[in-house]
Amino acid sequence: MIKILLKDRTTGKNILWANAEFGAKEIQPEEIFLIKPRREKIREEQKQRTRDRAEIFTPPEICKLQNDLFVDEKNWQEFIGAKFLEITCGEAPYIAGRYNVVTGATIAFENRGGILDRKLQIIARETKTFHDLKNFLLRAVKSVYGYEFQGDNLFLARKNIFETVAEFLTEKTPAKEFKKILAEVAEIISWNFWQMDGLTNSPPFTEEKNLFGGANCLIKDWSTGEIFEFAELLRGGRR
Ligand SMILES: C[S@@+](CC[C@H](N)C(=O)[O-])C[C@H]1O[C@@H](n2cnc3c(N)ncnc32)[C@H](O)[C@@H]1O
Repeated sequence: MIKILLKDRTTGKNILWANAEFGAKEIQPEEIFLIKPRREKIREEQKQRTRDRAEIFTPPEICKLQNDLFVDEKNWQEFIGAKFLEITCGEAPYIAGRYNVVTGATIAFENRGGILDRKLQIIARETKTFHDLKNFLLRAVKSVYGYEFQGDNLFLARKNIFETVAEFLTEKTPAKEFKKILAEVAEIISWNFWQMDGLTNSPPFTEEKNLFGGANCLIKDWSTGEIFEFAELLRGGRR
């Protein structure tokens, strides 16, 4: 799964470190042990990242308060499919809040306030069969998006979401389905959480061409399977 979680779907390569230490180098699977959440980085590195990239993370109680404005328990089926994008997502606390990004404390499933967490809580409560649970789960994962410049943050965001889903499926999923669903989930996450410089809509430091010959980052519309440039949405396109 690590290989999938490192894929850049626009360039076809791995995501880049894009930090002060490793610059435009791709992240290799054997290097992921070097990736630490912000709270575990030394103070100097934290300060530098704040100076370089305005890196400050939002505490879970704030994410929950804001996200709860969108939760629609009554029309829960529609809510599960409603699309959310966390711009400059860092470790993606607005999507999946398994741990407190400030203190590192683990947060119990029922207390989590990321938008994907809120969807999973509803799915756990409302679905009665594994078939329904799986379908709504995949719909929920396809509905959440985020982009980020720094590759280590992006990898942590992807991992955080992947582990949220893996934990959710444990003990709810027949053993023979477990791996298959997780592979599908990793694939979705590798598209929906992408590496992008939000100032140029392109992969960091690059004028590299995408599949269509442009330099803009590509994302996927899961309802049609169509791949398109994220920048199209900013030009008024609707999906
Ligand atoms: C203030 S943090 C917010 C992170 C997260 N959304 C949260 O609320 O905790 C800003 C994030 O934006 C990223 N960032 C900075 N400049 C960026 C750019 N030009 N394009 C994309 N992401 C950028 C940083 O790496 C950092 O993770």
